[in-house]
This record gives sequence, structure tokens and C-alpha cells, in this order.
Amino acid sequence: MTMAGNISTGFGRLPIEEQIATELEQLSSRRRYRTMPEVGTRSGRFITVGGRQLLNLSSNDYLGIGADDGLLSSWLADAAGSCDAGRYAMTSSSSRLLTGNHPLYDELEATIAVQYGREAALVFNSGYHANTGILPALSNRHDLILCDRLNHASIIDGLRIAEAEYKRFRHADYDHLEELLEQGVGCYRQVFIVTESVFSMDGDLADLRRLVALKKRYGAMLIVDEAHGVGVFGARGLGLAEEQGVLDGIDILVGTFGKALASTGAFGVMSSLVREYLVNTMRTVIFTTALPPMVLGWSLLTFRKQLGMLREREHLMALASQLRSSLRSAGFEVPGQSHIVPVVLGPDSRAVEMGSALREAGFHALPVRPPTVPENSSRLRFSLRADLSLEDIDALATVMKP
Ligand SMILES: Cc1ncc(COP(=O)(O)O)c(C=O)c1O
Repeated sequence: MTMAGNISTGFGRLPIEEQIATELEQLSSRRRYRTMPEVGTRSGRFITVGGRQLLNLSSNDYLGIGADDGLLSSWLADAAGSCDAGRYAMTSSSSRLLTGNHPLYDELEATIAVQYGREAALVFNSGYHANTGILPALSNRHDLILCDRLNHASIIDGLRIAEAEYKRFRHADYDHLEELLEQGVGCYRQVFIVTESVFSMDGDLADLRRLVALKKRYGAMLIVDEAHGVGVFGARGLGLAEEQGVLDGIDILVGTFGKALASTGAFGVMSSLVREYLVNTMRTVIFTTALPPMVLGWSLLTFRKQLGMLREREHLMALASQLRSSLRSAGFEVPGQSHIVPVVLGPDSRAVEMGSALREAGFHALPVRPPTVPENSSRLRFSLRADLSLEDIDALATVMKP
């Protein structure tokens, strides 16, 4: 960077606008130009996009709680009739460390900690805040972070901010992870392992039992992002760690409210000591305005509600297994074992064209392209929800032609 507004390149100085315009043209010519879609009303499992009502296969409302109008209206009616205006305030007006720490935070964190059987929970403004804040707070330049290669961008951004050294192990390749652990242990103050539980682009699952065994063997700290696992896996929807029986083996389990829990924000479960340390050091908790009480109250309601939604979880898994087997029999490459069902199509153009064909047939499923996924692995990603029917899945499978 040279003078304000100019970028120094190998070809001399170009005004920043020219440089940006060229980059946008390049994105456009590679069909990677992103725009905000025109999204209209949502009604149950349908969404109106570009004026057409389509079956919504691109949302993270996995349990359909966000589409439950009855639940929302009764909660809003309570809010309207309540004398406790503070409980339904739309702003917290400051950071939690100043005046933003509403009693609903305590209620929500206590409820979560009890359900997870852990000492403490800490609520964050979003999963992005959690993932960009936890590792930079806990680690220092004497530490090593080992990260699954396919972890979400928010975790990668956390690694970039952290002072620690980091290495990425091949996706779900725990032999590779063990090699890195062997090399690292003894050379660093602390080694951290970080993984998603349900991988958002491939819909496959981490082997959390193996990860817990490894972290114990090497004295590492294990952080698991259950953004796509909470609400979906485990008898009480606590995530893949509940399903695999390792809830107490994970040092920090991160869940988000913006997906199956149909709200906004995130939480981590951890020891009281780690919580206290994060409250003192985590910049994305300290230097941001707290969530509005209204959001905290709704999150408390949806978290409690999802605990009892086992039937919906079972239905969701039945939908996913039917869709996977139909698509695989039709000859598609369909990785994963969860409610996220990706169909890998290769070139960007094929994913874009198939997305358009589906739209014509009444389905909304968005193509996912590089850099979100590796080159030549563009895909359509079906994000299933418990309010779909088996007939919806059959209709979708019929339209999909290799
Ligand atoms: C695996 C994963 N972690 C974290 C996030 C970020 O969560 P939030 O949307 O609450 O910021 C997302 C997606 O949004 C995600 O897919």
C-alpha cells in the first residue's frame, strides 16, 4: 500500500476503484460473482425467491422451529401483554461488562450448563464471534493449534487472529492429526485441537470419540464447533457429542442459535475457570454490544423446546437417508451422513445450471462454489428440515437427473 486510495502493483499505481472493478470483472467472468438474492416471504417450508414460491432446501432451520408461526405468535403475545418491558427490550445498549448483562443471560447460561452437565456456559453474539474470539483469547505464541482442513471460515479467521502457530490436518484424518500431535507435544506450552462436528459443506461427521482419546493421550485441549449438530444429533439435541457419548470429554463445545435453534447468537460449554478467563480476555465478548434481551428470551424458549424434539430429529434423519440413497442410486456423488446432503457436480457451471433447473421445478437449493469448497468440486447443497415430507424428498429425487 502506498498513498491513500492507491494500490502499488507490479504495473504501477492503480486507483483502488480500478483495481476493485477489475477483480469484480474477473469474479464475474469465472461465474463466481456473488449477489444478495431477492428473498421474499417465508411460509413454513416454502420461501418466495424472485417472486416464485419454492420448497426451501437452503435454510438452516433444521427443526422447522423458525417456521412455527404459532410458537412465535404466542411468544409475541406474551411479550405484548407483559409488564416486564425489560425482559423484551430490543437493545442491551452496551457490552456485557458494562450494563448489557441482562438476567436472561444468567438464566440461559445456567439452563445450557445444566443440560450439558458442565460447570458453565458462556453466550456469544454469534458463532462467528465465538470462533474468532475463543482461540485468540486462550492461546499465545508459545502454543500450537491443530485444525481440520475443512473447518469453517470463522474458525480459520480465529486462527489468523491468534498469536499461536497453527497447522491444518487432512480432513478427518486422525492419523495425520496424531503425527502432528507427536511432533508438537513437548515443543509448545499447549496444543489445541479444533474441529467441526458436522461439516457444513460435506455433511460428514467427525469421530469425536477418537478425538477425545487423542486429546487425552497428548494432553491437548479439544474445541468442537457443533453449529450444525445442535438440535439435530443426540436424544436431547445437544449435538454429535451427545450422540457419540463424549459430552464430558470436550473442553469447549460451541453451539449456535442461528441454525436449528431458530434465533441468533451462540454458546460455549466449558469449565468455570475457562469461562472466567474468557470473560476477562475474549475481545469478541468484551468489545461488543450484548445481545438484546428479546433475543435471549427467544433463545431460551427455543433451546428448551428443542430438547423434546426427538421425533423431529428422527424424521430429519429418515429424510436424509432416503434422499442420499435415491441420489446415489441415480449415479450422483453424495458424500456425508447427515441432514446436510451435498451433490458434488464438479465444474461451477454444472452446479449453477442444475440449481436453475431445480428452481424451474419449484425447489430452492443453492450452488456452492470455490472458494467455499475446493476447486472443481462445486455442488448443490440440500439442507434438509424436519417439516419436509417423504413425498417432498421423492419429488426432489425425481427431478434430479445426472
Ligand atoms: C460450522 C459453522 N460455525 C460457525 C458459523 C457461524 O455462526 P453464526 O452464523 O452464528 O455466526 C457457521 C455458519 O454460519 C458455521 O457453519
